[in-house]
Amino acid sequence: MSDNLDKSHHDAVETAAPPTKKRGCAAHCKRFWWAYVIGFIVVLLVVILPVIYVGYPNIAQRDVNRSTLEITEMEITDPSPDSFHIRLTQVIGSKSKYHPNLDAFNADVSLPNSDEPFLKLNVPAVKAVDGAVAKIDQDVDLPNGDAFAAYSLAVMKQEEVSMIVFGETGLKEGSLPKTTVTYNKTVTMKGLNGLKGFNVTEFEITPRDDDGNNMRGNVFIPNPSVMTLTMGNLTLSLSVDGKDIGKSFMNNVVIRPGDNNIEMKSKVDQAQVLGLIAGRNARYRNGIVPIDIVGDSAVYNGEDLPYYSKALASNKLHVELNVGAALGS
Ligand SMILES: *[C@@H]1O[C@H](CO)[C@@H](O)[C@H](O)[C@H]1NC(C)=O
Ligand SMILES: *[C@@H]1O[C@H](CO)[C@@H](O)[C@H](O)[C@H]1NC(C)=O
Ligand SMILES: *[C@@H]1O[C@H](CO)[C@@H](O)[C@H](O)[C@H]1NC(C)=O
Ligand SMILES: *[C@@H]1O[C@H](CO)[C@@H](O)[C@H](O)[C@H]1NC(C)=O
Repeated sequence: MSDNLDKSHHDAVETAAPPTKKRGCAAHCKRFWWAYVIGFIVVLLVVILPVIYVGYPNIAQRDVNRSTLEITEMEITDPSPDSFHIRLTQVIGSKSKYHPNLDAFNADVSLPNSDEPFLKLNVPAVKAVDGAVAKIDQDVDLPNGDAFAAYSLAVMKQEEVSMIVFGETGLKEGSLPKTTVTYNKTVTMKGLNGLKGFNVTEFEITPRDDDGNNMRGNVFIPNPSVMTLTMGNLTLSLSVDGKDIGKSFMNNVVIRPGDNNIEMKSKVDQAQVLGLIAGRNARYRNGIVPIDIVGDSAVYNGEDLPYYSKALASNKLHVELNVGAALGS
């Protein structure tokens, strides 16, 4: 009896339950619909917010990381010991399908092995499409003279010079919120490679001029880089086998990309040079004298430019001059 009652009760529950549940749910939903809407929105936000505030900045940063930077032109004019004017053209490379807008920002430029920036640049705003060109045209105060001297030395001596362009900037893609990205690019440029190919292509002995110069010639300086460097008035020391024979002067020197031919005047101890090719103890009877040339100074508007002076001083050049032929003519 009790079993039967239980069973019938059970059946009753079984058969009656679904309609009750349905009715209960409908009533519940009707009453608590707002809770479902809130729940749905919460879930949506939980999914979307990380995408916008974590995923999207990550993608943005990844694309910035993957982009490349190339410097196609760089011109330094109006140099002083602690400032100059710079014009620079940079080209952005990007394979990304996103083309965000990057804000203007201040970039620190340093050598890879140094924490001290040698240059601070105002990088303009740019749309990051492949091949986008950003032009910089500004006066710079050198943040650290030694750091720029180290960079000038690297440019003078090395076939390639790497530098790190570092800064933080805003990035905006479409209607997404602006995000901050770190710009940290290594740019590699050609250097002057020790002025490899430097030569004195022509020279002659001249009557002593007002400045005491008694030789003039033409100097060939190849510049494989994209840099135009205004260096001012250069003074160089000439020596043969470690013995000083005089000085050379090149005025208003601007080294441009490609081949440079620059007039050089020299003040040479002619008696000493003559002794090298003629006379009892002459070592170079064939008339061809091996001359070592090393820079003393670069002076612009009366001021020594220590960064160029040091770079020139560190770079010993060598030419074989047919002094005999010049004297004979
Ligand atoms: C971007 O590069 C930096 C190193 O410069 C690295 O620490 C960071 O994890 C990279 N970010 C992404 C999203 O790839
Ligand atoms: C910039 O990137 C270089 C290597 O690509 C890394 O060694 C350096 O730590 C990065 N600098 C910063 C500040 O993230
Ligand atoms: C330097 O120039 C002279 C004159 O043009 C030329 O005869 C000589 O071969 C050149 N030397 C080098 C190393 O190119
Ligand atoms: C180079 O020297 C000459 C003669 O002294 C001078 O007239 C000229 O202004 C100097 N050039 C520079 C760039 O300082």
